[in-house]
Amino acid sequence: MQRLQIFLILAASIFGFSASVQAQTRSASLMNFSSDGQFVACSNRDSGTVSIVSWPKLEVQHEIAVGLHPEGVAWIGTSHKIACCVYGDDAIAILDADSGKIDRRIDVFDEPYGVVSTQDGHKLYATLEFPGNVVQLDPAAGAVTATWQVGQMPRGVSISRDGRFLMVTEYLTSKVLQISTVDGKVLQTWEGASTDNLARQVVLAPNDQKAYFTHIRSRITSSHGNGSIFPYVSVARLTGEKAGTRMRVPMDSLLGARVTANPWDCDVSADGKRLGVVFAGTNDLYLCRILPDDYVELEYEQGMRLGNNPRAIRFSPDDKALLIYNALDFEIVVLQVPNGVEIARAAVTKNPMSEELLLGKQLFYTALQPMSARSWISCASCHPDGDADGRTWQQPEGLRNTQPLAGLSWTHPVHWSADRDEVQDFEHTIQGLLMQGQGFVKRPLPDALGESFSGKSKSLDALAAYTNSHKSSLSPFAKNGLSKSAQRGQMLFFSASTKCATCHSGPMLTDSQPRAVSDLMRHDVGTGKDDPSELMEPKYDTPTLLGLYRSAPYLHHGKAATLKDVLTQCNPQDEHGVTSHLTASQLDDLVEFLLALPFEDPEPAAKATGLKQVIK
Ligand code: HEC
Ligand code: HEC
Repeated sequence: MQRLQIFLILAASIFGFSASVQAQTRSASLMNFSSDGQFVACSNRDSGTVSIVSWPKLEVQHEIAVGLHPEGVAWIGTSHKIACCVYGDDAIAILDADSGKIDRRIDVFDEPYGVVSTQDGHKLYATLEFPGNVVQLDPAAGAVTATWQVGQMPRGVSISRDGRFLMVTEYLTSKVLQISTVDGKVLQTWEGASTDNLARQVVLAPNDQKAYFTHIRSRITSSHGNGSIFPYVSVARLTGEKAGTRMRVPMDSLLGARVTANPWDCDVSADGKRLGVVFAGTNDLYLCRILPDDYVELEYEQGMRLGNNPRAIRFSPDDKALLIYNALDFEIVVLQVPNGVEIARAAVTKNPMSEELLLGKQLFYTALQPMSARSWISCASCHPDGDADGRTWQQPEGLRNTQPLAGLSWTHPVHWSADRDEVQDFEHTIQGLLMQGQGFVKRPLPDALGESFSGKSKSLDALAAYTNSHKSSLSPFAKNGLSKSAQRGQMLFFSASTKCATCHSGPMLTDSQPRAVSDLMRHDVGTGKDDPSELMEPKYDTPTLLGLYRSAPYLHHGKAATLKDVLTQCNPQDEHGVTSHLTASQLDDLVEFLLALPFEDPEPAAKATGLKQVIK
């Protein structure tokens, strides 16, 4: 420790890092500098904490417990206060970096992801992924002062120098919105292609003329390792001849044919000349020169291999160093700009998971071997943080909508067709066409429903343990309990007239439970006819209905855009429960109930009922 400190002080004097630059946090990220450059704050999603680290010494001053799944952090104006989005607790925590204490928590409706502050620190703006709001907050009063409906699943947010507008990204469409801070009006939008997906943070260039954001492209027509998922940095142009247009720069052809995966965050240097990007799937950093044109935009300058799952990147205030947050190594690494030489690293939190879950999570997030040969795809490319990617993929067996993984341990067998009975069977996905990885078990692989893979490989068991560990979060539609309408819907759901609960039964609202292959429980609910590419039987595993509020589109083929579509146009013959007799307002009530699931933690009841749980 002593030696590291001396080295850091030496490094600081040689490389001339200074802490004197005044820079406002203009973009939400998991990691940000205080305006005086004295501190870095980073939020530790797994630990549920925010760490305050001194700069350039890199000593952890405080680690503050904030709650479930903290995401974006921003320093408030020029103060030493920090705003942190506590995504899982639906609150913005205001922290004091000097005392290491929480000043207050401001409740927001649901799922705050990104936050920025005005230069004077009087106002904050945060994105609420659900229900698609940007909220304005007064941090001193601890109050939400305005709520604006802006779009679907907003995540990233960046504020202009004059504080007049915000740039916001939509997660599952990668759309970028320019929003007035006066009244929340959407001033301009930059639409993505229908394939563009998973856009998180967005950063504005120092002159506010361009905004940069990372995302992937999900080419759902081919679920194949040779490029179904591609990494991008896109540029939204605010001024000049091409104002209003956007361009995506492919990150898998920036350096020859070298492939990277899951770009997670990027940052522009204070002089506006460079952009750094981290790739959480291949553990890469690319440093790019920003070209002053509207044609090429970015040119590769330098690349570095990082530690596990880099999720945030920030230039030091004087642009001489890059800080990387390796989420699954629980550390910050400092690299010299532009040569990438490592200057320092420091642990910011401890691994809060078991070693097995950590290994499983690292495997789930990596697009490197033994998981994947071509480096484009990781499990997390389609199941980010255990959620679905909102896409329906053309699989060899037919159209298949990506399922969220919440509650999975209670609802084995898995897949829409119940064609896998344990997560270890995803060895078929790893070694198959999609990922083409080396995998963990020697070929030929036994049939997925045949001999068990469990216990054959520590790594595969760890992947299963992590995949099975996702829990469902309570629906925002049931914040104040079930509404009157949802209560009426509940009666209908459990009534003999609709029959819903005959299959969607028990605490997990499904009859899917581990069984012998010979008596697998699947149902033909009339949905198998709508897809000419379908190669399996028209019988499907009953899905859990917990978390429906955020998992559109619906059904195995994703052809129901809304829950109402499931009950109406996708159920013309009353084969999927009985719905044709319901009046319009009864249908609304039923949908209201489905949106409110889960309204309580299902696990205690699942345990009490003796449901079989598969931990790994
Ligand atoms: C290209 C996107 C994609 C990738 C990559 C991917 N999945 Fe999936 N996942 C899907 C789709 C689509 C489904 C639904 C498939 C089906 O039911 O046949 C699914 C279903 C699942 C399910 C079943 C959930 C349930 O409720 O039954 C699990 C578990 C799962 N995936 C785990 C993984 C793991 C582990 C990996 C990495 C080895 C992975 N997935 C990689 C798209 C993907
Ligand atoms: C005979 C068993 C059965 C009955 C009865 C039944 N379901 Fe289903 N449900 C299923 C199966 C199987 C699927 C998957 C079908 C598919 O994806 O094609 C499903 C899918 C769903 C989905 C889509 C879930 C998702 O994640 O996409 C919803 C919503 C749903 N059911 C609600 C209901 C409601 C409401 C009722 C009563 C009106 C009902 N179900 C009655 C078996 C049943």
